[in-house]
Amino acid sequence: MTRKSSMTPSRKSIPAASRKKAKPAQTSTIPSSGSKGKVSAMWAGRFSGGMSPAMEKLSVSLHFDKKLYREDIEGSVAHAHGLFAAKVLTASERDRMIAALKGIQADIAAGKALFSPSDEDIHMAVERILTDRIGGLGKKLHTGRSRNDQVATDFRLYVMRRAEALVGRVEDLQRALLEKAKQYKKDIMPGYTHVQQAQPILIAHYLLSFFFALERDKSRLRHAWWSAGEMPLGSGALAGSAFPYKREMVAERLGFPAVSRNSIDATAHRDFALEFLGSLGCLGVLLSSYAEDFVIWSTSEFGYVKLGEAYTSGSSMMPQKRNPDSMELIRGKAGRLMGAYARLFTVLKGLPHGYDRDLQEDKEPVFDAVETASVCLQVMAEAIESLTFDTKKILTRMQPALLATDLADILVEKGVPFRDAHHIVGRLVGEAEKKGVSFLELPAESWKAVPDAAAVKKLLTFAFSVERRNIQGGTGSKSVTAQLKEAEKMLKRVG
Ligand code: ARG
Repeated sequence: MTRKSSMTPSRKSIPAASRKKAKPAQTSTIPSSGSKGKVSAMWAGRFSGGMSPAMEKLSVSLHFDKKLYREDIEGSVAHAHGLFAAKVLTASERDRMIAALKGIQADIAAGKALFSPSDEDIHMAVERILTDRIGGLGKKLHTGRSRNDQVATDFRLYVMRRAEALVGRVEDLQRALLEKAKQYKKDIMPGYTHVQQAQPILIAHYLLSFFFALERDKSRLRHAWWSAGEMPLGSGALAGSAFPYKREMVAERLGFPAVSRNSIDATAHRDFALEFLGSLGCLGVLLSSYAEDFVIWSTSEFGYVKLGEAYTSGSSMMPQKRNPDSMELIRGKAGRLMGAYARLFTVLKGLPHGYDRDLQEDKEPVFDAVETASVCLQVMAEAIESLTFDTKKILTRMQPALLATDLADILVEKGVPFRDAHHIVGRLVGEAEKKGVSFLELPAESWKAVPDAAAVKKLLTFAFSVERRNIQGGTGSKSVTAQLKEAEKMLKRVG
Protein backbone atom coordinates (compact mmCIF):
# COMPACT_ATOMS: atom_id res chain seq x y z
CA MET A 1 0.00 0.00 0.00
CA THR A 2 1.43 3.38 -0.95
CA ARG A 3 1.44 6.20 1.50
CA LYS A 4 -1.04 8.10 -0.59
CA SER A 5 -3.58 5.36 -0.93
CA SER A 6 -3.43 4.48 2.74
CA MET A 7 -3.90 8.06 3.77
CA THR A 8 -6.77 8.81 1.46
CA PRO A 9 -9.46 6.77 3.17
CA SER A 10 -8.51 8.04 6.57
CA ARG A 11 -8.79 11.61 5.44
CA LYS A 12 -12.12 10.93 3.81
CA SER A 13 -13.37 9.17 6.87
CA ILE A 14 -13.02 12.27 9.02
CA PRO A 15 -16.36 14.01 8.80
CA ALA A 16 -16.27 17.60 7.69
CA ALA A 17 -18.28 18.68 10.71
CA SER A 18 -15.73 17.51 13.22
CA ARG A 19 -12.86 18.91 11.17
CA LYS A 20 -14.48 22.29 11.38
CA LYS A 21 -15.10 21.90 15.06
CA ALA A 22 -11.60 21.02 16.07
CA LYS A 23 -10.26 24.38 14.97
CA PRO A 24 -11.49 26.85 17.60
CA ALA A 25 -10.36 24.52 20.34
CA GLN A 26 -7.36 26.74 21.07
CA THR A 27 -9.80 28.44 23.35
CA SER A 28 -10.30 26.32 26.41
CA THR A 29 -13.28 24.37 25.12
CA ILE A 30 -14.31 22.74 21.93
CA PRO A 31 -17.70 23.91 20.78
CA SER A 32 -20.48 21.51 21.41
CA SER A 33 -21.39 18.98 18.77
CA GLY A 34 -24.88 20.30 18.95
CA SER A 35 -26.99 22.83 20.71
CA LYS A 36 -27.66 20.85 23.87
CA GLY A 37 -24.56 19.42 25.50
CA LYS A 38 -21.01 20.64 26.02
CA VAL A 39 -19.13 17.52 25.17
CA SER A 40 -17.77 17.57 21.68
CA ALA A 41 -17.53 14.18 20.11
CA MET A 42 -14.99 13.06 17.58
CA TRP A 43 -17.85 11.11 16.05
CA ALA A 44 -20.11 14.17 15.77
CA GLY A 45 -20.19 14.01 11.96
CA ARG A 46 -23.24 11.81 11.75
CA PHE A 47 -25.17 13.65 14.47
CA SER A 48 -27.24 16.77 14.19
CA GLY A 49 -27.64 17.48 17.89
CA GLY A 50 -25.59 16.99 21.03
CA MET A 51 -26.19 14.87 24.09
CA SER A 52 -28.61 15.98 26.75
CA PRO A 53 -26.81 17.35 29.82
CA ALA A 54 -27.92 14.38 31.91
CA MET A 55 -26.70 11.97 29.25
CA GLU A 56 -23.38 13.82 29.17
CA LYS A 57 -23.02 13.39 32.87
CA LEU A 58 -23.63 9.70 32.48
CA SER A 59 -21.20 9.43 29.60
CA VAL A 60 -18.20 11.47 30.73
CA SER A 61 -15.34 9.48 32.20
CA LEU A 62 -12.41 11.91 32.04
CA HIS A 63 -12.60 12.63 35.76
CA PHE A 64 -11.47 9.09 36.47
CA ASP A 65 -9.87 7.76 33.31
CA LYS A 66 -7.40 10.65 33.21
CA LYS A 67 -5.43 8.35 35.47
CA LEU A 68 -4.56 6.49 32.28
CA TYR A 69 -2.95 9.51 30.60
CA ARG A 70 0.55 8.03 30.68
CA GLU A 71 -0.54 4.71 29.20
CA ASP A 72 -2.76 6.49 26.68
CA ILE A 73 0.02 8.73 25.44
CA GLU A 74 2.62 5.98 25.39
CA GLY A 75 0.09 3.89 23.46
CA SER A 76 -0.31 6.74 20.97
CA VAL A 77 3.44 7.15 20.60
CA ALA A 78 3.78 3.45 19.79
CA HIS A 79 0.78 3.73 17.47
CA ALA A 80 2.50 6.59 15.62
CA HIS A 81 5.45 4.28 15.04
CA GLY A 82 2.99 1.67 13.80
CA LEU A 83 1.42 4.19 11.43
CA PHE A 84 4.83 5.09 10.06
CA ALA A 85 5.60 1.42 9.47
CA ALA A 86 2.21 1.13 7.75
CA LYS A 87 3.18 4.13 5.60
CA VAL A 88 0.31 6.22 6.92
CA LEU A 89 2.73 8.78 8.38
CA THR A 90 6.00 10.07 6.96
CA ALA A 91 9.03 9.99 9.23
CA SER A 92 8.81 13.70 9.86
CA GLU A 93 5.07 13.51 10.58
CA ARG A 94 5.72 10.67 13.00
CA ASP A 95 8.46 12.64 14.74
CA ARG A 96 6.37 15.79 15.03
CA MET A 97 3.43 13.83 16.36
CA ILE A 98 5.54 11.99 18.92
CA ALA A 99 7.25 15.18 20.10
CA ALA A 100 3.84 16.78 20.61
CA LEU A 101 2.51 13.73 22.44
CA LYS A 102 5.51 13.74 24.75
CA GLY A 103 5.00 17.44 25.36
CA ILE A 104 1.40 16.76 26.35
CA GLN A 105 2.51 13.99 28.69
CA ALA A 106 5.06 16.27 30.35
CA ASP A 107 2.49 19.05 30.71
CA ILE A 108 -0.10 16.77 32.30
CA ALA A 109 2.56 15.35 34.62
CA ALA A 110 3.49 18.91 35.57
CA GLY A 111 -0.12 19.54 36.52
CA LYS A 112 -0.97 21.94 33.71
CA ALA A 113 -4.70 22.32 33.21
CA LEU A 114 -5.07 21.02 29.68
CA PHE A 115 -8.40 19.29 29.97
CA SER A 116 -11.58 20.94 28.88
CA PRO A 117 -15.15 20.27 29.96
CA SER A 118 -15.76 19.24 26.37
CA ASP A 119 -13.44 16.24 26.64
CA GLU A 120 -15.40 13.04 27.14
CA ASP A 121 -12.58 10.73 28.09
CA ILE A 122 -8.80 10.68 28.28
CA HIS A 123 -8.49 9.32 24.75
CA MET A 124 -10.50 12.12 23.21
CA ALA A 125 -8.84 14.68 25.43
CA VAL A 126 -5.32 13.74 24.32
CA GLU A 127 -6.32 13.66 20.67
CA ARG A 128 -8.07 17.01 20.97
CA ILE A 129 -5.07 18.62 22.69
CA LEU A 130 -2.76 17.11 20.08
CA THR A 131 -4.84 18.52 17.26
CA ASP A 132 -4.91 21.90 19.00
CA ARG A 133 -1.14 21.83 19.09
CA ILE A 134 -0.15 20.40 15.71
CA GLY A 135 -3.27 21.01 13.65
CA GLY A 136 -4.35 18.61 10.90
CA LEU A 137 -1.55 16.15 11.55
CA GLY A 138 -3.11 15.36 14.93
CA LYS A 139 -6.17 14.08 13.12
CA LYS A 140 -4.14 11.30 11.54
CA LEU A 141 -3.34 9.69 14.86
CA HIS A 142 -6.53 7.70 15.11
CA THR A 143 -6.02 6.00 11.73
CA GLY A 144 -6.65 2.28 11.97
CA ARG A 145 -7.45 2.59 15.64
CA SER A 146 -10.67 2.72 17.59
CA ARG A 147 -11.15 3.77 21.16
CA ASN A 148 -12.13 0.15 21.66
CA ASP A 149 -8.64 -1.19 21.05
CA GLN A 150 -7.10 1.99 22.48
CA VAL A 151 -8.83 1.78 25.87
CA ALA A 152 -8.17 -1.95 26.09
CA THR A 153 -4.48 -1.28 25.41
CA ASP A 154 -4.25 1.51 27.97
CA PHE A 155 -6.04 -0.49 30.60
CA ARG A 156 -3.99 -3.63 30.04
CA LEU A 157 -0.79 -1.60 30.30
CA TYR A 158 -2.07 -0.02 33.49
CA VAL A 159 -2.94 -3.41 35.01
CA MET A 160 0.48 -4.81 34.05
CA ARG A 161 2.30 -1.91 35.64
CA ARG A 162 0.24 -1.89 38.82
CA ALA A 163 0.49 -5.65 39.14
CA GLU A 164 4.26 -5.34 38.97
CA ALA A 165 4.35 -2.48 41.46
CA LEU A 166 2.11 -4.41 43.84
CA VAL A 167 4.39 -7.44 43.67
CA GLY A 168 7.10 -5.07 44.88
CA ARG A 169 4.89 -3.94 47.77
CA VAL A 170 4.13 -7.54 48.70
CA GLU A 171 7.86 -8.16 48.79
CA ASP A 172 8.37 -5.21 51.13
CA LEU A 173 5.87 -6.83 53.47
CA GLN A 174 7.61 -10.19 53.11
CA ARG A 175 10.95 -8.57 54.02
CA ALA A 176 9.40 -7.09 57.16
CA LEU A 177 7.95 -10.49 58.09
CA LEU A 178 11.24 -12.26 57.50
CA GLU A 179 13.13 -9.80 59.71
CA LYS A 180 10.52 -10.13 62.46
CA ALA A 181 10.59 -13.92 62.18
CA LYS A 182 14.38 -13.92 62.59
CA GLN A 183 13.97 -11.77 65.68
CA TYR A 184 11.56 -14.28 67.26
CA LYS A 185 12.97 -17.53 65.93
CA LYS A 186 13.46 -19.02 69.41
CA ASP A 187 10.33 -17.76 71.15
CA ILE A 188 7.31 -19.91 71.78
CA MET A 189 3.65 -18.98 71.73
CA PRO A 190 0.40 -20.90 71.75
CA GLY A 191 -0.82 -21.78 68.27
CA TYR A 192 -4.59 -21.49 67.89
CA THR A 193 -7.40 -23.27 66.16
CA HIS A 194 -10.95 -21.98 66.71
CA VAL A 195 -9.26 -19.19 68.75
CA GLN A 196 -8.58 -21.90 71.36
CA GLN A 197 -5.07 -22.73 72.47
CA ALA A 198 -4.09 -25.74 70.38
CA GLN A 199 -0.36 -26.55 70.27
CA PRO A 200 2.86 -24.68 71.06
CA ILE A 201 4.54 -23.05 68.05
CA LEU A 202 7.49 -20.77 67.42
CA ILE A 203 6.52 -17.15 66.85
CA ALA A 204 8.71 -17.24 63.74
CA HIS A 205 6.66 -20.17 62.44
CA TYR A 206 3.51 -18.10 62.75
CA LEU A 207 5.07 -15.09 61.01
CA LEU A 208 6.39 -17.24 58.20
CA SER A 209 2.89 -18.58 57.55
CA PHE A 210 2.09 -15.03 56.45
CA PHE A 211 5.28 -14.83 54.37
CA PHE A 212 4.61 -18.01 52.39
CA ALA A 213 0.95 -17.21 51.79
CA LEU A 214 2.06 -13.90 50.26
CA GLU A 215 4.22 -15.84 47.81
CA ARG A 216 1.01 -17.15 46.25
CA ASP A 217 -0.44 -13.63 46.12
CA LYS A 218 2.60 -12.66 44.10
CA SER A 219 2.09 -15.51 41.69
CA ARG A 220 -1.58 -14.57 41.28
CA LEU A 221 -0.54 -10.99 40.50
CA ARG A 222 2.08 -12.24 38.05
CA HIS A 223 -0.50 -14.39 36.34
CA ALA A 224 -2.76 -11.35 36.01
CA TRP A 225 0.24 -9.55 34.43
CA TRP A 226 0.51 -12.26 31.79
CA SER A 227 -3.22 -12.26 31.12
CA ALA A 228 -3.13 -8.50 30.65
CA GLY A 229 -0.03 -8.79 28.48
CA GLU A 230 -1.72 -9.31 25.11
CA MET A 231 -1.66 -6.07 23.12
CA PRO A 232 -4.96 -5.11 21.48
CA LEU A 233 -3.72 -2.31 19.14
CA GLY A 234 -4.36 -3.29 15.55
CA SER A 235 -7.74 -4.74 16.50
CA GLY A 236 -9.61 -1.54 15.62
CA ALA A 237 -13.21 -1.40 16.72
CA LEU A 238 -13.65 -5.18 16.55
CA ALA A 239 -12.62 -6.54 13.16
CA GLY A 240 -8.94 -5.58 12.94
CA SER A 241 -7.20 -2.64 11.34
CA ALA A 242 -7.24 -2.39 7.56
CA PHE A 243 -3.70 -0.91 7.54
CA PRO A 244 -0.51 -2.99 7.37
CA TYR A 245 0.29 -2.37 10.98
CA LYS A 246 3.29 -4.08 12.57
CA ARG A 247 1.61 -5.27 15.73
CA GLU A 248 4.63 -7.10 17.16
CA MET A 249 6.79 -4.02 16.79
CA VAL A 250 4.18 -1.83 18.54
CA ALA A 251 3.73 -4.41 21.31
CA GLU A 252 7.45 -4.60 21.91
CA ARG A 253 7.72 -0.83 22.19
CA LEU A 254 5.02 -0.85 24.85
CA GLY A 255 6.44 -3.76 26.81
CA PHE A 256 3.68 -6.24 26.00
CA PRO A 257 4.96 -9.82 25.89
CA ALA A 258 2.42 -10.77 23.21
CA VAL A 259 -0.17 -9.48 20.78
CA SER A 260 -3.80 -10.53 21.04
CA ARG A 261 -4.79 -13.35 18.73
CA ASN A 262 -8.31 -12.22 17.96
CA SER A 263 -9.60 -8.69 17.58
CA ILE A 264 -13.02 -9.38 19.13
CA ASP A 265 -11.40 -11.08 22.12
CA ALA A 266 -9.01 -8.13 22.44
CA THR A 267 -11.66 -5.42 22.48
CA ALA A 268 -14.54 -7.08 24.30
CA HIS A 269 -13.00 -8.95 27.21
CA ARG A 270 -11.89 -7.72 30.61
CA ASP A 271 -11.15 -11.01 32.33
CA PHE A 272 -7.54 -9.83 32.86
CA ALA A 273 -8.89 -7.02 35.05
CA LEU A 274 -11.17 -9.43 36.83
CA GLU A 275 -8.25 -11.73 37.50
CA PHE A 276 -6.24 -8.79 38.82
CA LEU A 277 -9.11 -7.79 41.12
CA GLY A 278 -9.53 -11.39 42.19
CA SER A 279 -5.88 -11.50 43.17
CA LEU A 280 -6.30 -8.28 45.15
CA GLY A 281 -9.43 -9.66 46.80
CA CYS A 282 -7.46 -12.73 47.93
CA LEU A 283 -4.68 -10.50 49.17
CA GLY A 284 -7.17 -8.36 51.07
CA VAL A 285 -8.68 -11.40 52.75
CA LEU A 286 -5.23 -12.63 53.78
CA LEU A 287 -4.24 -9.24 55.19
CA SER A 288 -7.54 -8.98 57.02
CA SER A 289 -7.10 -12.26 58.84
CA TYR A 290 -3.59 -11.44 60.08
CA ALA A 291 -4.86 -7.98 61.00
CA GLU A 292 -7.56 -9.71 63.05
CA ASP A 293 -4.95 -11.77 64.94
CA PHE A 294 -3.07 -8.60 65.81
CA VAL A 295 -6.25 -6.86 66.92
CA ILE A 296 -7.08 -9.72 69.27
CA TRP A 297 -3.53 -10.16 70.49
CA SER A 298 -3.16 -6.49 71.34
CA THR A 299 -6.18 -6.50 73.69
CA SER A 300 -5.43 -6.29 77.41
CA GLU A 301 -7.00 -9.76 77.71
CA PHE A 302 -4.24 -11.21 75.53
CA GLY A 303 -1.48 -8.60 75.65
CA TYR A 304 0.72 -10.70 73.36
CA VAL A 305 1.72 -7.93 70.95
CA LYS A 306 2.19 -4.22 70.82
CA LEU A 307 1.98 -2.22 67.63
CA GLY A 308 4.16 0.84 67.23
CA GLU A 309 2.39 3.98 68.35
CA ALA A 310 2.31 5.31 64.80
CA TYR A 311 -0.05 2.47 63.85
CA THR A 312 -2.53 2.99 66.65
CA SER A 313 -4.76 5.80 67.76
CA GLY A 314 -6.13 7.12 71.01
CA SER A 315 -9.73 7.72 71.94
CA SER A 316 -11.16 11.23 72.03
CA MET A 317 -12.96 10.31 75.23
CA MET A 318 -11.14 7.50 77.02
CA PRO A 319 -7.59 8.53 77.88
CA GLN A 320 -6.35 4.99 78.49
CA LYS A 321 -7.16 3.74 74.99
CA ARG A 322 -4.61 2.74 72.37
CA ASN A 323 -6.58 1.27 69.53
CA PRO A 324 -5.09 -0.92 66.79
CA ASP A 325 -6.66 1.23 64.06
CA SER A 326 -4.13 0.23 61.40
CA MET A 327 -5.21 -3.40 61.68
CA GLU A 328 -8.90 -2.58 61.89
CA LEU A 329 -8.65 -0.42 58.79
CA ILE A 330 -6.80 -3.12 56.87
CA ARG A 331 -9.44 -5.61 58.02
CA GLY A 332 -12.15 -3.26 56.81
CA LYS A 333 -10.50 -2.47 53.48
CA ALA A 334 -10.64 -6.16 52.57
CA GLY A 335 -14.38 -5.63 52.15
CA ARG A 336 -13.63 -2.89 49.70
CA LEU A 337 -11.25 -5.07 47.68
CA MET A 338 -13.75 -7.90 47.55
CA GLY A 339 -16.42 -5.39 46.58
CA ALA A 340 -14.32 -4.14 43.65
CA TYR A 341 -14.07 -7.71 42.37
CA ALA A 342 -17.80 -8.34 42.77
CA ARG A 343 -18.54 -5.00 41.07
CA LEU A 344 -16.60 -5.77 37.91
CA PHE A 345 -17.82 -9.36 37.85
CA THR A 346 -21.38 -8.06 37.87
CA VAL A 347 -20.73 -5.57 35.06
CA LEU A 348 -19.23 -8.26 32.83
CA LYS A 349 -21.90 -10.89 33.24
CA GLY A 350 -23.82 -11.58 30.06
CA LEU A 351 -22.29 -8.76 27.98
CA PRO A 352 -22.81 -9.39 24.28
CA HIS A 353 -19.87 -9.21 21.84
CA GLY A 354 -17.92 -7.07 20.85
CA TYR A 355 -17.28 -3.84 22.78
CA ASP A 356 -20.16 -2.44 24.85
CA ARG A 357 -20.12 0.85 26.65
CA ASP A 358 -20.78 -0.95 29.94
CA LEU A 359 -17.05 -1.65 29.80
CA GLN A 360 -16.34 1.94 30.78
CA GLU A 361 -17.33 0.72 34.27
CA ASP A 362 -14.25 -1.51 34.40
CA LYS A 363 -11.79 1.14 35.49
CA GLU A 364 -12.96 2.67 38.77
CA PRO A 365 -13.03 -0.56 40.77
CA VAL A 366 -9.54 -1.34 39.53
CA PHE A 367 -8.17 2.13 40.32
CA ASP A 368 -9.72 1.99 43.76
CA ALA A 369 -8.47 -1.51 44.47
CA VAL A 370 -4.94 -0.63 43.39
CA GLU A 371 -4.77 2.31 45.77
CA THR A 372 -6.40 0.40 48.58
CA ALA A 373 -4.18 -2.66 48.26
CA SER A 374 -1.08 -0.56 47.90
CA VAL A 375 -1.62 1.48 51.07
CA CYS A 376 -2.74 -1.59 53.04
CA LEU A 377 0.44 -3.44 52.08
CA GLN A 378 2.56 -0.46 53.01
CA VAL A 379 0.94 0.00 56.40
CA MET A 380 1.01 -3.72 57.14
CA ALA A 381 4.75 -3.83 56.36
CA GLU A 382 5.47 -0.82 58.57
CA ALA A 383 3.24 -2.10 61.37
CA ILE A 384 4.97 -5.50 61.30
CA GLU A 385 8.31 -3.73 61.59
CA SER A 386 6.99 -1.90 64.62
CA LEU A 387 5.49 -5.00 66.21
CA THR A 388 6.82 -6.41 69.48
CA PHE A 389 5.81 -9.67 71.11
CA ASP A 390 5.70 -9.81 74.90
CA THR A 391 7.35 -13.21 75.01
CA LYS A 392 7.34 -13.44 78.83
CA LYS A 393 3.67 -12.66 79.13
CA ILE A 394 2.86 -15.07 76.33
CA LEU A 395 4.56 -17.89 78.26
CA THR A 396 2.51 -17.12 81.36
CA ARG A 397 -0.68 -17.47 79.30
CA MET A 398 0.19 -20.84 77.83
CA GLN A 399 -1.97 -23.65 79.18
CA PRO A 400 -0.38 -27.06 79.91
CA ALA A 401 -3.20 -28.67 77.94
CA LEU A 402 -1.31 -27.46 74.87
CA LEU A 403 0.79 -30.59 75.52
CA ALA A 404 -2.12 -33.02 75.42
CA THR A 405 -1.36 -34.09 71.83
CA ASP A 406 2.26 -34.72 72.78
CA LEU A 407 1.24 -36.98 75.62
CA ALA A 408 -1.00 -38.93 73.25
CA ASP A 409 1.91 -39.19 70.77
CA ILE A 410 4.21 -40.50 73.53
CA LEU A 411 1.65 -43.16 74.41
CA VAL A 412 1.56 -44.18 70.75
CA GLU A 413 5.35 -44.53 70.83
CA LYS A 414 4.87 -46.84 73.83
CA GLY A 415 2.61 -49.04 71.73
CA VAL A 416 -0.84 -47.67 72.62
CA PRO A 417 -3.11 -47.32 69.54
CA PHE A 418 -3.71 -43.61 68.82
CA ARG A 419 -7.49 -43.70 69.44
CA ASP A 420 -6.92 -45.27 72.87
CA ALA A 421 -4.13 -42.79 73.62
CA HIS A 422 -6.44 -39.93 72.66
CA HIS A 423 -9.08 -41.33 75.01
CA ILE A 424 -6.67 -41.71 77.94
CA VAL A 425 -5.38 -38.16 77.58
CA GLY A 426 -8.89 -36.83 77.04
CA ARG A 427 -9.94 -38.35 80.36
CA LEU A 428 -6.95 -36.78 82.11
CA VAL A 429 -7.65 -33.35 80.67
CA GLY A 430 -11.36 -33.62 81.47
CA GLU A 431 -10.67 -34.59 85.07
CA ALA A 432 -8.16 -31.75 85.42
CA GLU A 433 -10.72 -29.28 84.11
CA LYS A 434 -13.30 -30.46 86.64
CA LYS A 435 -10.81 -30.14 89.47
CA GLY A 436 -9.56 -26.79 88.25
CA VAL A 437 -5.92 -27.92 87.95
CA SER A 438 -3.49 -28.66 85.15
CA PHE A 439 -3.53 -32.28 83.91
CA LEU A 440 0.15 -32.44 84.86
CA GLU A 441 -0.79 -31.76 88.50
CA LEU A 442 -3.24 -34.65 88.81
CA PRO A 443 -2.25 -37.37 91.33
CA ALA A 444 -0.38 -40.50 90.26
CA GLU A 445 -3.64 -42.42 90.62
CA SER A 446 -5.13 -40.51 87.67
CA TRP A 447 -1.98 -41.17 85.57
CA LYS A 448 -1.91 -44.92 86.07
CA ALA A 449 -2.88 -45.63 82.45
CA VAL A 450 0.37 -43.92 81.36
CA PRO A 451 3.49 -46.14 81.55
CA ASP A 452 6.50 -44.43 83.23
CA ALA A 453 4.22 -41.53 84.13
CA ALA A 454 6.79 -39.63 86.22
CA ALA A 455 9.40 -39.67 83.44
CA VAL A 456 6.81 -38.78 80.83
CA LYS A 457 5.60 -35.80 82.87
CA LYS A 458 9.16 -34.47 83.03
CA LEU A 459 9.46 -34.69 79.26
CA LEU A 460 6.34 -32.64 78.69
CA THR A 461 7.50 -29.07 78.14
CA PHE A 462 6.52 -26.58 75.45
CA ALA A 463 10.05 -26.65 74.03
CA PHE A 464 9.90 -30.45 73.84
CA SER A 465 6.61 -30.25 71.97
CA VAL A 466 8.03 -27.76 69.46
CA GLU A 467 11.24 -29.72 68.90
CA ARG A 468 9.33 -32.92 68.12
CA ARG A 469 8.10 -31.16 65.01
CA ASN A 470 11.15 -30.78 62.84
CA ILE A 471 9.31 -32.38 59.98
CA GLN A 472 9.53 -30.23 56.86
CA GLY A 473 7.02 -27.38 57.32
CA GLY A 474 6.68 -28.07 61.04
CA THR A 475 7.27 -25.67 63.91
CA GLY A 476 10.53 -27.25 65.21
CA SER A 477 13.54 -24.95 65.29
CA LYS A 478 15.39 -26.86 62.54
CA SER A 479 12.36 -26.72 60.31
CA VAL A 480 11.88 -23.01 61.02
CA THR A 481 15.53 -22.34 60.24
CA ALA A 482 15.04 -24.11 56.91
CA GLN A 483 11.91 -22.04 56.30
CA LEU A 484 13.82 -18.85 57.05
CA LYS A 485 16.49 -19.87 54.54
CA GLU A 486 13.93 -20.69 51.90
CA ALA A 487 12.14 -17.39 52.50
CA GLU A 488 15.40 -15.54 52.11
CA LYS A 489 16.07 -17.34 48.84
CA MET A 490 12.60 -16.51 47.54
CA LEU A 491 13.18 -12.82 48.11
CA LYS A 492 16.48 -12.93 46.27
CA ARG A 493 14.98 -14.71 43.27
CA VAL A 494 14.02 -12.32 40.53
CA GLY A 495 10.59 -12.69 38.94
N1 ARG B 1 -14.47 5.72 27.58
C1 ARG B 1 -14.65 4.48 26.90
C2 ARG B 1 -14.34 3.32 27.86
O1 ARG B 1 -13.80 3.56 28.86
C3 ARG B 1 -13.75 4.42 25.72
C4 ARG B 1 -14.21 3.56 24.61
C5 ARG B 1 -15.39 4.14 23.98
N2 ARG B 1 -15.73 3.44 22.80
C6 ARG B 1 -16.89 3.62 22.19
N3 ARG B 1 -17.09 2.93 21.14
N4 ARG B 1 -17.78 4.45 22.64
O2 ARG B 1 -14.65 2.19 27.59
